[in-house]
Amino acid sequence: EIYDQPNNIHHVFRGRISEINRSIEFPDKVELLLDPNIESIRIVACGTSFYSGLVSKYIIEQLTDLPVLMDLASEYRYFGTKDDKSLVIGITQSGETADTLAALRKARNSGCKTLVVTNVIGSTATRISDAYILTQSGPEIGVAATKTFTSQILVLFLIALKLGLLKRKIGADDLYNYIQDLKKLPKKVRQVLEQSEDILQIAHQLKNAKSVFFIGRGINYPISLEGALKLKEISYIHAEGFAAGELKHGPFALLTKITPVVAIITNDSTYDKMIANIGEVKARGPQVIAVAEENDTEIEKHADFILRIPAKSNLLSCIPIIVTLQLLAYHVANLNECSIDKPRNLAKSVTVE
Ligand code: M6R
Repeated sequence: EIYDQPNNIHHVFRGRISEINRSIEFPDKVELLLDPNIESIRIVACGTSFYSGLVSKYIIEQLTDLPVLMDLASEYRYFGTKDDKSLVIGITQSGETADTLAALRKARNSGCKTLVVTNVIGSTATRISDAYILTQSGPEIGVAATKTFTSQILVLFLIALKLGLLKRKIGADDLYNYIQDLKKLPKKVRQVLEQSEDILQIAHQLKNAKSVFFIGRGINYPISLEGALKLKEISYIHAEGFAAGELKHGPFALLTKITPVVAIITNDSTYDKMIANIGEVKARGPQVIAVAEENDTEIEKHADFILRIPAKSNLLSCIPIIVTLQLLAYHVANLNECSIDKPRNLAKSVTVE
């Protein structure tokens, strides 16, 4: 399923991007919901789907200026406040997660319009919402979500582009440039998949770890959360993701020489801050594995090991980065002879509370 991703990216775009018209097209019911006058977007989801929502928050806010509120469905269903000004987007691979369904019902009952992003046509989520968009990823059997995570982000990216155009935050030329970035993505993901052997070498560094930190800033912060979730759920190694700026507010207390740190660093406004954070980590003794762009030579002075992602960084770099982290988790789990597709104590779809 990790290897399905280059093809899946094409499936997300199929029938939705018109390069000739320079437009993004969705079914009528979806278009009706994407009203430029909405005041905010609220995303409800669980687990990996929540993290794809958190990644999308960075994308939507940048492309539309709309505030995006994030709610774990399991919390929102009981504590969500009445708010009929937001478009509520539920993200759920299965379309059957009990908490996400309850959150969507609550949103609808409080007068919100609801849009679902799901992989399963005919699922309950598609039936209880005002409209839905399919991720078109094909069945996902592994309990750990991989290809659907990237497809969810790309669907939300298309929603952001559509709203950005409607709100005149972006123009037709910007859209054209974003479409070019999207078209380059399958090749970039293939490039990462071809590096599987290099990633396996790094996996050897992690296989006996008791705990691993993942750090990043901006859009790479939720990618750190998802990278840590993948490692913990399939390899059973304790892993946590952090916004790199938060380490000194508590997590440093847990950092010892034997806690490897995976640091995501891209050539954008966060670069210098990440270099500083890597320095703070190194001063405490751990080994740093950087996930960095292929043309970044500076990072060689700071990190112990480097996993390379294709240059050059843009809003979609998070996709090759997460594919790198999925493969890293896969190799660590494989080295430790874990049951990768069916990790202990977990179900693919959590249909009870
Ligand atoms: O089907 P859903 O996307 O609603 O599932 C939500 C979570 O249970 C799910 O994303 C879970 O965290 C992943 N399988 C973990 O890889």
